[in-house]
Parts: sequence; structure tokens; C-alpha cells
Amino acid sequence: MELRRSEISVVAAVVIAVGSVVGRAEQSSQLDPVQLKEYRVERGVSQVAKGCIECHAKESAGIVADWAGSRHAHANVTCLDCHAAGPADADVSIGHLDYDKTRISAIVSPKDCSRCHPSEAAEYSRSKHANTLELIWKIDPWLNHGLNNEIERTTGCYACHGTVVEVKDGKFDANAWPNVGVGRINPDGSKGSCSSCHTRHAFSIAEARRPEACGQCHLGPDHPQIEIYNESKHGAIYHTEGDSWDWDAAPGMWTAGVDYRAPTCSVCHMSGINGVPTTHDVTERLAWETQAPLTVRPGDFKPWPAHTDWKVEREKMTKVCVVCHSRSWAEAHFTRLDAVVANYNDTYYKPMKKLIDDLYDKKLLNKDRALDEELEIEMYELWHHEGRRARFGSAMMAPDYAWWHGFYDLKKRVMAIEEKVEKLLESGKPAKLFDVKGSGGDTTKPDFGGGK
Ligand code: HEC
Ligand code: HEC
Ligand code: HEC
Ligand code: HEC
Ligand code: HEC
Ligand code: HEC
Ligand code: HEC
Ligand code: HEC
Repeated sequence: MELRRSEISVVAAVVIAVGSVVGRAEQSSQLDPVQLKEYRVERGVSQVAKGCIECHAKESAGIVADWAGSRHAHANVTCLDCHAAGPADADVSIGHLDYDKTRISAIVSPKDCSRCHPSEAAEYSRSKHANTLELIWKIDPWLNHGLNNEIERTTGCYACHGTVVEVKDGKFDANAWPNVGVGRINPDGSKGSCSSCHTRHAFSIAEARRPEACGQCHLGPDHPQIEIYNESKHGAIYHTEGDSWDWDAAPGMWTAGVDYRAPTCSVCHMSGINGVPTTHDVTERLAWETQAPLTVRPGDFKPWPAHTDWKVEREKMTKVCVVCHSRSWAEAHFTRLDAVVANYNDTYYKPMKKLIDDLYDKKLLNKDRALDEELEIEMYELWHHEGRRARFGSAMMAPDYAWWHGFYDLKKRVMAIEEKVEKLLESGKPAKLFDVKGSGGDTTKPDFGGGK
């Protein structure tokens, strides 16, 4: 990040009023003059780069306003620095040549950001976030058995996980673009989308430190981390007084007890704290794979073995806690989590898995296609819904999720499974096969290398 800071004091050849005055004035006659931010274009900015800003201040005032308020604008990082297309880029916007003869691309990939933020991009590229598409295509029944179709995938799965973006003749495929999923595969081969958490064109650190930045994907019946956070003591404190905390402190300087009083997702999983460096690899600090059917250590997760040693990561997570708690408080919390993992694995998952496997052996259940028999759905929800909620709720201090949405639901599910298994065994006839509506999605694995 070598800045052209030296020139920062040399201000103001051109001054552009940001925000379409006309457009806004039409909506509201009491326009507050302070809303009209001014961006001072410095002498260091090239004529071409000025051209982008000037025309776009008229054509897309919202974008220019977001950018003008960002650290990037203040550090002279312009539209051109991010959107300029290299000679080898396949994703040049052909239509845009009508407005400006500079070749630009709408896509700004992690590789583009890596020119100035190499360490964030390198960490991100080895995370499960960046690699999620390849991973889910290894293990997911919906995709591999074609149980949903392209539009269901594009508007659902891929909005969070990411698409494989292709550009043909300067045009995007509507199935794949727009998209800001965490594991999007870009035409330059890089993986992910930095704007999953830092929305354009503010690209703000403050936004990403807030739990809302994560909660757009980490929610719902199968991974309710935001709901869990909201009901935890940490979340309650955040909602009570978070508006008065300092969210803008410089990287590595955001300090517990000074800038904030309770942790957010970012504090525990990403931010630099107590000697644990900031990371863009969210697999760090984890000691379990609590989303998996059978909980295992991250290094033992066969579809995507982590590069980490769980003991080292557990110690990093503990160091996060001991800024605000005693070590014995933190360690006791983890002892409980480990007991919850054992209880889930041994009391619920393994015995039910054995019952279901016996039915496959006896040909009373059909293995050809997943999730087209009632018992397959029951077993799926056991680990994928309440089985995860029990584990996540315990890991992140939400007793309602640990018990009512977790272990309580597990008990009910076990009863339902046992009853259905008993009936099948009594009848001796194979279970009813359902025709899964809306199925037919392509089952060929995409090219995860990108670079098309
Ligand atoms: C003379 C006006 C003008 C200039 C100069 C201009 N643009 Fe644009 N640009 C537009 C318009 C209009 C659109 C919207 C086109 C559309 O609706 O698809 C656009 C679209 C874009 C897009 C989105 C492209 C897409 O395919 O979605 C990007 C990115 C962009 N401009 C960046 C730039 C950059 C970088 C520069 C400076 C090199 C620049 N523009 C210069 C008018 C301009
Ligand atoms: C720090 C890098 C960066 C800078 C600086 C930047 N952009 Fe972007 N821009 C992005 C990213 C990232 C996207 C989202 C595309 C993606 O996900 O790859 C984007 C998207 C766009 C789009 C399409 C978005 C849409 O909603 O249709 C336009 C148009 C655009 N930028 C114009 C501009 C203009 C004009 C400027 C200068 C005022 C600018 N950008 C500055 C990174 C940048
Ligand atoms: C040409 C260099 C350059 C490019 C390309 C670039 N950045 Fe930056 N970025 C900077 C500079 C310079 C800063 C300001 C650093 C400072 O203020 O200490 C910055 C700051 C940031 C910050 C911190 C903002 C804050 O609120 O403190 C984020 C987040 C960020 N960039 C994300 C991105 C993303 C995402 C991309 C790609 C879409 C990108 N940057 C592309 C140079 C760049
Ligand atoms: C709202 C966003 C969202 C949607 C929609 C979504 N997912 Fe996910 N998915 C996630 C998140 C977040 C996780 C991480 C769960 C965890 O680790 O707690 C995840 C985890 C997974 C995993 C487990 C990966 C692992 O490491 O074991 C698979 C497989 C998966 N999703 C596939 C899909 C498929 C296929 C669809 C569509 C049918 C889908 N997801 C829809 C957000 C989403
Ligand atoms: C999963 C959400 C997420 C994604 C995706 C993400 N970031 Fe960040 N980023 C954060 C958080 C949270 C912080 C704040 C860390 C802290 O407290 O200092 C941050 C901070 C930063 C900073 C400030 C310096 C630092 O290291 O703290 C830069 C620069 C940055 N990110 C760039 C990027 C780039 C480039 C990408 C894409 C390669 C990216 N981010 C993708 C969440 C994300
Ligand atoms: C755009 C959607 C999206 C956003 C935003 C997002 N995530 Fe994720 N996250 C995912 C998906 C999808 C996965 C599952 C990856 C997999 O296992 O294949 C995931 C997985 C994770 C994991 C588990 C990693 C592992 O190795 O098991 C953690 C921890 C995590 N995210 C934390 C965060 C945090 C913290 C933020 C906010 C700063 C955040 N995420 C923002 C989609 C998102
Ligand atoms: C007080 C610290 C803390 C906060 C706040 C927190 N987490 Fe966690 N998170 C943990 C711990 C501890 C674990 C379990 C770690 C382990 O594997 O031992 C965990 C587990 C997870 C997992 C499961 C990863 C896996 O593969 O098993 C995801 C995903 C996750 N957190 C995302 C989030 C998101 C998103 C938020 C905010 C909405 C959040 N966390 C808030 C501490 C926290
Ligand atoms: C920035 C400070 C901070 C950090 C970091 C932090 N906590 Fe907390 N935590 C608090 C505060 C404040 C409370 C509320 C204390 C009270 O109830 O009086 C709290 C409460 C708790 C509680 C009590 C929950 C309940 O419902 O009774 C547990 C357990 C806990 N934290 C565990 C952890 C663990 C484990 C970590 C690390 C993964 C952690 N905390 C990180 C500040 C923090």
C-alpha cells in the first residue's frame, strides 16, 4: 500500500459537487446542504481518471457519492485504479467504449484488489469462504443429484456461495451476474468477492466489523449465527450501546475495552486482538467442524482438510476471550462446547445414522438419489438443522438455540425417525420414492479453475 500521500495537501484543481442535485431536489424540497459532499480532485489524479468521476457524478451519482466518502477517495485511489482492464482481461465492457475509449471492466476481483492489499487477498484465497464452490460441489446432494434447478440455485445457493462468472463478447451471463457471493469464481481465475463484506463503493472497515455484514448469509434454520449472536449477552450489549463504539479505528488498533465492550463476529473470527493478528481466513481460530454431519477436527474434514492445527487455533480463540474474561472462564466455556460436540455425535448422530444405513443394506431405502424419501429428509434435517443449531448455540453462548432449537428438536426428530424406521421394518416394503419437484439442474461440475 504505497500511497501518494505526499501530495495530499495539494488540493483542488477541480471541485465536483457529488450527488445529483436535480434528482435529489425533486424528491425533497428541504435538501440539507451538508448532504452534498464535496470531493476535491487532487492534482495527482490523471485526466482520464477525472473523466470517469465527472461523467459518473451525473450518470450514477450514488456510486460516486459512496466512493467520495471512502478512504480510497481520500488516498487518491480512483475508479480507474480498480476498473481499468489489462490487455489480457477477457471481461472488457465492450458497450462502455461508446462512453470512454479507456478499456474498463465491471468486475473488480480479489486479484485486482491484491495489487494494493496483497496479504488480505492471500489470506482470503486460502479460506473456506473463497473455496466454497469447489467444496460444496464435492459434498452437496442438491447439486450433485440435480434436486434443484438453475434459477433456484442462482437466486438461492449461489447468491451466498458465489457463481462461476463468464463473459462472452463483452456481455455477462444473467445466470452468473450480478453476484457477490463469498466464493465467486472470476474470469481472471481468482476466487471470491471482497464486496461480500465490504460493500462498494464505501469499502469500509467499519461496515465489515458489524455483525450485520455477516448476518446476510449466516442466518436461517441451518446456520443461524446472527440470530444466535443477537440473543447472546455479547449481542445484547452490542445492540444496547454499539452505536457509541468507535468502528473506524485503524486495522490492528481496534481495542477491546477502549473502542468496544463486547465482541462482534469480526472480533472473535477476524480482527487483530491480544497478539492474534487480523485474518481474512475465517478457518483460523476454529477447533471443530460444527457444520458437518459428524463433528470432526478441521484437519480431519475429508472433503476439505484444513491447513490448521486445532490446538493452535483453540489457543488463538482463547486469547480473544481473555482480553475481557479470565482464562478459567474461557476454558470452561470450551470444555462445555467439547461436551456438547460429544453428546451430539454419540447420542444423536451416530445411532440414527446406523438405523438409516441398516435400511439401505436391507434395500428398504434407496441410495440412488438423496432426499427423495421421507426418512432421508428426516436424517438430513437432524444434522443440517437442529444438529447444527445445538452445536452453534453452545459455541456462541445462545442457550435458546442450544436447547429449544437444538437438543429439544433433536429428541423430537429421533422419535420421528425411530417410528418411521419401525414401520418400514414391519411392512418389509421399500419406502415411497417421491418425485422431487423443480429438479433437473445440471450435475456437471463447473470449472473451478476459472480463467475462461
Ligand atoms: C461520458 C460518460 C462516461 C465516462 C467518461 C465514463 N463512463 Fe462509465 N459508464 C457510463 C454510463 C452511462 C454507464 C452505464 C452504462 C449502462 O447503463 O450499462 C457506465 C458504466 C460503467 C461501468 C459498469 C459497466 C457494466 O458493464 O456494468 C463501470 C465499471 C464504469 N462505467 C466505469 C468507468 C470508468 C473506470 C471510467 C473512466 C475510465 C468511466 N466509466 C468513464 C458513462 C461514462
Ligand atoms: C476500490 C476499488 C473500486 C473503486 C475505486 C471503484 N470501484 Fe466501481 N466497483 C468496484 C467493485 C468491487 C464493484 C463490484 C463488481 C464486482 O463485484 O466485481 C464495482 C462496481 C461498479 C459498477 C457497476 C455496479 C452496479 O451496481 O451496476 C460501476 C458502474 C462502477 N463500479 C463505477 C465506478 C466509478 C464511477 C468509480 C469512481 C467514482 C468506481 N467504480 C470506483 C470496485 C471499485
Ligand atoms: C490502487 C491501490 C488500491 C486498490 C486497487 C484497492 N485499494 Fe483498498 N485501499 C487502498 C488505500 C491506499 C487505502 C487506505 C489505507 C489507509 O487509509 O491507511 C485502502 C483502504 C481499504 C480499506 C480500509 C477502509 C477503511 O475504512 O479503513 C478496505 C476495506 C479496502 N481498501 C478494500 C479494498 C477492496 C475490497 C479493493 C478491491 C475491490 C481495494 N481495496 C482496492 C488502496 C487500494
Ligand atoms: C443465505 C445464504 C446461503 C444460501 C442461500 C445457501 N447457503 Fe450453503 N451455506 C451458507 C453458510 C453461511 C454456510 C456455512 C455454515 C457454517 O459453517 O456454519 C453454508 C454451508 C453450506 C455447506 C456446507 C459446507 C461445509 O463446509 O461443510 C454446503 C454443502 C452448502 N452450504 C450448500 C448449499 C447449497 C447447495 C445451497 C442451495 C441449495 C445453499 N448452500 C444455500 C450460506 C448459504
Ligand atoms: C468475510 C467478510 C470479509 C471479506 C469477504 C473481506 N473482508 Fe476485508 N475485512 C473484513 C473485516 C471484518 C475487517 C476488519 C478487521 C479489523 O477489525 O481490523 C476487514 C478489514 C480489511 C482491510 C483493512 C486492513 C485490515 O487488514 O484490517 C482491508 C484493506 C481489507 N479488509 C481488504 C479486503 C480485501 C482486498 C478483500 C478481498 C480479497 C476482503 N477484504 C474481503 C471482512 C471481510
Ligand atoms: C456472502 C455470504 C457470506 C458473508 C457475507 C459471510 N459469510 Fe461466512 N460463510 C459463507 C459461506 C457460504 C460459508 C461456508 C463455506 C463452506 O464451508 O463451504 C461460510 C463459512 C464461514 C465460517 C466457517 C469457516 C470454516 O472453515 O468452517 C466462518 C467462521 C465464517 N463464515 C465467518 C464469517 C464472518 C465472521 C463474516 C462477516 C465478517 C462472514 N462469514 C460473512 C458465506 C458468507
Ligand atoms: C464471542 C466470540 C464469538 C462471536 C461474537 C461469534 N463467534 Fe462464531 N464461533 C465462536 C466460537 C468459539 C466457535 C466455535 C469454534 C470451534 O470450532 O471451537 C464459533 C463457530 C462459528 C462457526 C462455525 C464454524 C464451523 O465450521 O464449525 C461459524 C460459521 C461462525 N462461528 C460464524 C459467526 C458469525 C457469522 C458471527 C456473528 C453473527 C459469530 N460467529 C460470532 C466464537 C464467536
Ligand atoms: C470485548 C470483550 C469481550 C470479549 C472479547 C469476549 N467477551 Fe464474553 N462477555 C463480555 C461481556 C461484557 C459479557 C457480559 C458479562 C456479564 O454478564 O456481566 C460477556 C459474557 C460472556 C458469557 C456469559 C454468557 C451468559 O449468557 O451468561 C460467556 C460464556 C462469555 N462471555 C464467553 C466468552 C468467550 C468464550 C469469549 C471468546 C471466544 C468471549 N466471551 C469474548 C465481553 C467479552
